Amino acid sequence: MADSKPLPVIPEGHAILPMDPILSLDAYLAAGGGRALEKALKMPRAAIIAEVKKSGLRGRGGAGFPTGVKWSSVAADPCPVKYLACNAAEGEPGTYKDRTLIRRNPYQLLEGVAIAAYAIDARGAYIAMKSSFEREYAALSRALREMTSRGVLGQIPVSIVRGPEDYLFGEEKALLEVIEGHDALPREPDFPPYIKGLFVTDPLELNPTVANNAETLSNVPNIIMHGADWFRAAGSADSPGTMIFTVSGDVQNQGVFELPMGTPMRALMEGFAGGAKPGRKLKAMLSGVASAVILPSLLDTPLDFGSMKRAGSGLGSGGLIVYDDSTCMVRVTWRLSEFLFVESCGQCISCKTGTNMATNYLQMIVEGRGSDLELNLAISNSRMAPTGNRCYLPAEHSLLIPSLIEAFPNEFRAHYNRGCLPTCHEIPVPKIHEYDEATHTFSYVHTKTAEEVVAWHP
Ligand SMILES: Cc1cc2nc3c(=O)[nH]c(=O)nc-3n(C[C@H](O)[C@H](O)[C@H](O)COP(=O)(O)O)c2cc1C
Ligand code: SF4
Repeated sequence: MADSKPLPVIPEGHAILPMDPILSLDAYLAAGGGRALEKALKMPRAAIIAEVKKSGLRGRGGAGFPTGVKWSSVAADPCPVKYLACNAAEGEPGTYKDRTLIRRNPYQLLEGVAIAAYAIDARGAYIAMKSSFEREYAALSRALREMTSRGVLGQIPVSIVRGPEDYLFGEEKALLEVIEGHDALPREPDFPPYIKGLFVTDPLELNPTVANNAETLSNVPNIIMHGADWFRAAGSADSPGTMIFTVSGDVQNQGVFELPMGTPMRALMEGFAGGAKPGRKLKAMLSGVASAVILPSLLDTPLDFGSMKRAGSGLGSGGLIVYDDSTCMVRVTWRLSEFLFVESCGQCISCKTGTNMATNYLQMIVEGRGSDLELNLAISNSRMAPTGNRCYLPAEHSLLIPSLIEAFPNEFRAHYNRGCLPTCHEIPVPKIHEYDEATHTFSYVHTKTAEEVVAWHP
């Protein structure tokens, strides 16, 4: 780091990501695992929810919604049937933390799931992950078998559901559809899971369901074991606890780092991730594809939900994608717009049309056929995409794409009658497939281009 301040450390015992994987239930129990569920099962349900509320735990799936508030609204619902859905779909570009967590400690997640299910008096709990997450499925299903056969997971049945590669799978209303055995298509907008949940057969009984991210639930055993005040000793007042950050792209040391929330972004980027590569400068960062671009002038922003929002962007699920000054931001903007267009399911006309038109205008600029007109049309189509939308995907487009255009206006103008130069190299949408710890490199899933999709649906 430029000013060589000491890097922030997590207070003793607060990390949820172990350095080495926990490979057996015996090892987990020997390290103190399982005691939080034992304790919870002797507590009144309301007391568990009150402790989680007091801890200030906020959802790690992207929106930072207070976990205890979500639980208490489902618990208070008069419907006798309730469910828990754990979101381990992890499809956000630049994010690789749920898979890391599940591989290294599947027992902690299962214990968190069991506590949450007990607290809301759920009939069943489901953990939903992509079929392609084979190593994580193997670790989690083995841990589930061990915990169930040894009777240390409580009475509520927990199932693992495997689903498609679609980005929308992780959207909570689509997640419920997948758990029910359908395609990943978000259901009615006015009924979030905490109002209308899983397996509804009677219009008067809506089976409210808590949907929580895998990292969120992995925090729960520690909160119940050590208490809300202990949990708040790490992190910031706005966002207590730690968060697992993924840093990918143009840095010297890509990887997955757990840090106290509120750590300045500079410590993560220049300290843990080693800063820009030799001879290069950081140009732009993205926290997934759901918020506005973050410029290097914001590097001193604390990494918590409130500070990132006040800075004009968002924390997302802690996946930070880094671009250096060799990157063509016009190409990046086009490819990310195209990704959201392709992943839009088309149930809402303005979403599919707005993301499509914006992508087409951006492609014209990439190809040297653009002008101020096309640039403005890309912005206006992006902004109109979230109209009558069932889910948040087009809102992501409308926050991200115009922000990139507005941050780099001269780069866009320079492309007008010229298009991309040979130096404007292709940049994959960083939808992470795998992380190689030995070489600190990520590999990416192939994301379909608009042309491939059009060829598929002539
Ligand atoms: C298009 C889209 C994709 C999403 N993908 C994920 C995902 O892969 N994992 C996740 O936990 N949340 C994802 N979310 C957020 C979920 O809808 C939901 O807010 C989250 O699972 C709630 O959990 P939390 O309160 O613990 O954060 C996505 C949202 C959208 C709009
Ligand atoms: S807003 Fe877009 S992605 Fe979401 S349901 Fe509608 S068409 Fe599908």
